[in-house]
Amino acid sequence: MFNGTKELALEPLFHYGDLRRKSTKANGFAGQDILSVSQFDRESLAYVFARAHEMRQMVETIGYADLLKGYVLACLFYEPSTRTSASFIAAMERLGGSVIPITQGVQFSSVAKGETLADTVRTLEQYADVIVLRHPEIGSARIAADYAGVPVINAGDGAGEHPTQALLDLFTIQEELGAIDGLKIAMVGDLRYGRTVHSLTKLLTLYDVSLRFVSPEILRLPLVLMNEVKDAGLDVRETHDVADVIETADVLYVTRVQKERFTDLAQYEEVKGYYEITAELMQRAKPKMIVMHPLPRVGEIHYAVDSDPRAAYFRQVRNGMYIRMALLAMVLGKA
Ligand code: CP
Repeated sequence: MFNGTKELALEPLFHYGDLRRKSTKANGFAGQDILSVSQFDRESLAYVFARAHEMRQMVETIGYADLLKGYVLACLFYEPSTRTSASFIAAMERLGGSVIPITQGVQFSSVAKGETLADTVRTLEQYADVIVLRHPEIGSARIAADYAGVPVINAGDGAGEHPTQALLDLFTIQEELGAIDGLKIAMVGDLRYGRTVHSLTKLLTLYDVSLRFVSPEILRLPLVLMNEVKDAGLDVRETHDVADVIETADVLYVTRVQKERFTDLAQYEEVKGYYEITAELMQRAKPKMIVMHPLPRVGEIHYAVDSDPRAAYFRQVRNGMYIRMALLAMVLGKA
């Protein structure tokens, strides 16, 4: 375990501002932006998860509904994505809505001619009822929301937050293990730049959980987040070694080292292969536990682990669609 005496002075996390600005209607989410997990409490999370569960049942029985027929989603991605973009598109289409997909590279949009984010969202709001944005800069979703008159959903802003991923992660834990309180959750890998870790950690401070953060020294959780966890009174420890947590973890949340966030690639090379979850390592884990990963993976979890029933990462992917169906219905006032 870390001795706790040397903590890194990492950059403060972005403040997402007045997060209820566009809230006007009954469900509390109608007309709202979704920029940060700070907007959610246990009650609203239970509401989202109940709606997502209904979406699952609907997809598994009839596959399609026309709840959002006539509504249009603009999907604006300045960074690569497979899951987030595809699941928002699938979510909208499964609910009968349609999509403007600017997801195959903004180089094919007028961004390539120098158009600003502000003008781009002010244009898209002329066509769409909701905008989903992924952007490499922390705070970009907040800026877009300030300019857009329609709800903006943050699909990842640099190393900042990825709130819809955190919601689907937490939903997955609940669906797989039946409850969140009382669990021991270990986060492994790039805790410094991993926005999914940042958002999920914030949400977990709402629950009675034990947290274990497993990373190389240079990829430790930002101090400001660690302080949030401690202020919430959670049992928390840091370690470099996944062997310290494998036997006791109920959830092993593994992440990729985020090459694109490093300014010094030599540092990336030093830590990129730090953790590998193997079938042998899994033999030491509890019979009832789950391995999660926001994906994409680049070697952190061996393919041999995929056939283990505890490997939940592709079920987690599917849950993303249900959560995003719920969120779209909610912000469009149809939940
Ligand atoms: N988990 C996630 O955000 O995946 P994508 O980058 O493929 O959207």
